[in-house]
Amino acid sequence: MQKRISSFIIIITAVALTGIILTQTFWVANALETKDSQLQENVGLGMKRVVNQLMSLQNDTALASRYLSSRSESSLHSQFIRSLNPELITQLITAELQNMEVLRPYDYGIYDGETHHFILISNEALKEQLVNSRHQEPISCMFQIEQFYLTVYFSNERRYILNQMLLYIFLSALFMLVVISGFWYVTRSLLQQKKLAGIRADYVNNMTHELKTPIATISVASEMLLKPEVQVRQNKVDHYAKIIYNENQRLKNQADQVLQVALLERGEYNINPEAVDVHQLIEQLTESMLVTVTSRNGIIQTRHNAAEHVVQADKNHLTNVLSNLMENANKYSPEAPHIIISTHSNRKGVFISCQDKGIGIAEEYFRHIFKKFHRISTGNVHDVKGFGIGLFYVKTIVEAHAGNIQVRSKPGEGSNFIVFWPFHAPAHSVLE
Ligand SMILES: Nc1ncnc2c1ncn2[C@@H]1O[C@H](COP(=O)(O)OP(=O)(O)OP(=O)(O)O)[C@@H](O)[C@H]1O
Ligand SMILES: [Mg+2]
Repeated sequence: MQKRISSFIIIITAVALTGIILTQTFWVANALETKDSQLQENVGLGMKRVVNQLMSLQNDTALASRYLSSRSESSLHSQFIRSLNPELITQLITAELQNMEVLRPYDYGIYDGETHHFILISNEALKEQLVNSRHQEPISCMFQIEQFYLTVYFSNERRYILNQMLLYIFLSALFMLVVISGFWYVTRSLLQQKKLAGIRADYVNNMTHELKTPIATISVASEMLLKPEVQVRQNKVDHYAKIIYNENQRLKNQADQVLQVALLERGEYNINPEAVDVHQLIEQLTESMLVTVTSRNGIIQTRHNAAEHVVQADKNHLTNVLSNLMENANKYSPEAPHIIISTHSNRKGVFISCQDKGIGIAEEYFRHIFKKFHRISTGNVHDVKGFGIGLFYVKTIVEAHAGNIQVRSKPGEGSNFIVFWPFHAPAHSVLE
C-alpha cells in the first residue's frame, strides 16, 4: 500500500512538474511575443509621427509654390520627397523613436514603392533589409496613390528583445532547474532506499535461514546426549559432542561475519602491517582449498609470475581477501571448478588475479557486487548460499591498503578478479 502511494505521489509530482515547466515556457514565449509587438507598435507610432511632420512640411511648401507655378500635386510631392534633407530626417526619426522609448541604433531609407529605388538611404548595403523591414510607413499626400515609403531597420532585432528579457528567462530556467534537480534527487534517494530495504530484507531472510540449520542440529545432538542409552556409550557421546562443537563454531563464524560488516561500515577495523610473501600465502590457501575443489573434480592452478612478491599487509586480512575470491570462484562454478591464481608485479606492487570458468557476471552488475548485501539473484546463483558481504569486505580491505580491485567477466565464460596490492602503502592510508 505504502509502495503504491509513494509511486502515485512520484507520478503526480512528475506530471505537475511537467505542467509547471510547460506553463512557464508558454509564459516566457508569450512575454517575448508581447515585447515584440510592443516594439513594432512603438516604432510604427514614431514613424507615423515622422511622416505627419513631413506632410505638414510639404503642405507649407506646396502652398508657397502653388503661387509660383502650376505643377501638379503629384510632381510637387515627388519633388518634395527628393529634396528632403537627410539630416533633418535623421533628427526627426531619432527624436520620435526616443519619444517612444526605442533607444537603439537604426538604419532608414525612403524608397519608391513601385521601382524599389531609394531616394534616401542611411546605409547602401542594407537595401534589401530595408525594403523587407516590417517597420514601413507610406508617405502619402492627398489625391495621390501611395508611392513613397519610409522604412526603418534594426539589426539583430530578435536578439535585442531577447536581451531585454534575459534576466527573466535566466531566473525562470534557474528556478526550474533547481526544482527538477530537487525532485530528481528526492526520487532517486527514495528508490534507493526502497531497493536497500529489499536487499536488507533478503539478507535477514538468508541469515535466519543460515542460523536455523546449526541451531536445529545442535538441538537434536544435545537431545541425543541427554538420552541415558547414549550416555553410556563413550563413542556416541564423543560423536554428538563433536557435532555440537562444530555447529557452534559455524554459528560463531556467522555471528563474526555479521559483526564484521558493522565494523567495516564504521571503518573500525585494525590493520597490523607486516611483510607477507604473496606467493607463499597463495600456496597455503590453495592447499587448504584443494580438498573442496578436487571433491568436485576441479583443479586449482597457480602461476607465480611476480618478480617481487613480498608486500606490507595485515596477514589476516590479506588471507581473508584471497580466500573470499577463491571461495567465490569455487561457489560460482556450477561444473567442475577450474581456478587459476596468477601474479605479476610492477614497480609499485603486485597484481593478484583469481580467474574461474564459472557462470560469469554481466557488466551491469560490476558496480553493484562490491556493495554490501548485493547478490545477483538470477539463474542458478540463487541456490548458492551467501550473504553478499564477501566482495564488500575485499574491496574495503584492499582500499585500506591503498590498492584496488577490478573485475573482468562475461556471463557464461567465467570471471577474473584482479587485486592490485602496493608494496608499501602511501602515507595517508590506514596503515600509518
Ligand atoms: N567468481 C564469481 N563468478 C560469478 N559471480 C560472482 C563471482 N564472485 C561474486 N559473484 C557475484 O557477486 C555477488 C557478491 O559476491 P560476494 O562474495 O560479495 O557475496 P556472496 O558470495 O553472495 O556471499 P558471501 O558474503 O558469503 O561472500 C555474488 O552473490 C555473486 O552473484
Ligand atoms: Mg562470496
